[in-house]
Amino acid sequence: AHMNENKEFVLVGGGNAAGYVAHAFVENGIADGRLCIVSKEKVAPYERPALSKAYLFPLDKSPARLPGFHTCVGSGWERQTPDWYKEKGIEVLYDTSVSGLDISLGTLSTKAGGTIKYSNLIIATGSTATRLPEAVGGSLPGVHYLREVEDADSLVSSWQEASKVVVIGGGYIGMEVSAASVSWKLDTTVVFPEKYVMPRLFTPAIAHHYEEFYKSRGVKFEKGTSVKKLVAGTSGRVARVELTNGKVIDADTVIVGVGAKPNVIPFLQAGLKSLEGGIQVDGQFRTSAPGIFAIGDVAAFPLKIYGRTARVEHVDHARKSALHFANVLTHKTTDPYDYLPFFYSRVFEYPGSERKLWWQFYGDNVGDTVEIGDFNPKYAAFWLVSGRIKGVFLESGSPEVKFLCCCFFFGLCLS
Ligand code: FDA
Ligand code: NAD
Repeated sequence: AHMNENKEFVLVGGGNAAGYVAHAFVENGIADGRLCIVSKEKVAPYERPALSKAYLFPLDKSPARLPGFHTCVGSGWERQTPDWYKEKGIEVLYDTSVSGLDISLGTLSTKAGGTIKYSNLIIATGSTATRLPEAVGGSLPGVHYLREVEDADSLVSSWQEASKVVVIGGGYIGMEVSAASVSWKLDTTVVFPEKYVMPRLFTPAIAHHYEEFYKSRGVKFEKGTSVKKLVAGTSGRVARVELTNGKVIDADTVIVGVGAKPNVIPFLQAGLKSLEGGIQVDGQFRTSAPGIFAIGDVAAFPLKIYGRTARVEHVDHARKSALHFANVLTHKTTDPYDYLPFFYSRVFEYPGSERKLWWQFYGDNVGDTVEIGDFNPKYAAFWLVSGRIKGVFLESGSPEVKFLCCCFFFGLCLS
């Protein structure tokens, strides 16, 4: 159906980066009739972080639902509903999965057998949740993964019937989903192999504060162990979780958050160069093939301030890489992307919650740490190398504190 007609800009992916590219193309007057978005999802791009936050509020606490959080509301900009795309002359092919790329022909092939011809291609396919193998029970009914709005809907419907929940993984998904699960007053246990939560980012001291807070809200932890098997009951639905340490936990609902993988297979098979498991790009998001760009989770880009290549799986980078790419394309800048990594999380923020947690992190978590504050409510950690600040972590940081941290980075420490 979409055959033959050549499209000037084709963007594959309908997520955070896609929504922000659409915004920037409209701002620059290059959207109308020139941009086509090809998305595997059935809905217009939305602010994905909401799926593990306001989407999972208890049903009597006004949970977020679409169209409420279409991009670019996360930046306080206009909400891009499906009608917005129509009004702006942006074609969106929903429910369309790209399965192949032919660089020499300049064509994409779709899973449904279609062909899309492009002049310029932007790859923004994000990541997929890593699944536990089928042999371990990773596909049993009652076992959930969380990446897209359909996954969140399916989890919410399980929680309406649930009583015992096991969350596998002590990373971002594990922390956010377990906080939501206890706010639904469900018996909740988090299982992970490391010594403490969020080991990729937190220090033992930071993790201790969060674990104690979570325990005070009813979350149980099984640390230093992993899943041996998810076992079904007589109904076929998951009924218990067998751990490698020999323990067995009853569960009617399991959420797996054991990491994500970038969606790059058709593009790497077509011959684009790969780095860090993603698609190699330069500071202007150009891949190894002319006219093909990659942004967001899939892009392995030069992280200028640290002199290394990085792939960043966080929304701030998805947004900023999209905007920088559009600025390069429209000759507003010739500068390479100069990114200061920024991640955050918010939990227990449903209406009426006694206390919400809200942390933010800037920079790189390397070197020695200095920690300040008692977590009641504020707390800060600084990572230092040879007396220079490399990373800052803030819990409940005010805008003034954030401003100071940015000054440290840009003015004092990295010059
Ligand atoms: P994104 O994943 O948003 O979009 C990719 C799009 O491509 C999807 O629409 C997908 O369906 C589509 N697609 C994939 N393959 C395709 C194909 N072959 N053909 C067509 N379409 C295809 N970050 C943060 O900083 N703070 C936070 O609080 C959170 N919270 C959070 C919660 C949850 C539940 C998740 C899953 C993730 C987060 N993140 C986050 C991470 C953040 O959401 C993520 O880094 C960005 O969404 C990345 O944006 P992209 O556009 O690169 O991918
Ligand atoms: P993650 O990498 O943050 O955490 C994975 C965790 O899984 C590890 O910490 C480890 O504890 C655990 N693990 C790994 N293998 C395991 C096993 N076999 N059994 C038990 N535990 C195991 O990944 P995630 O939390 O799944 O997040 C997925 C993606 O979503 C990432 O790209 C992440 O950046 C993104 N995300 C970001 C945010 C945020 O920035 N606030 C929130 C949610 C999701």
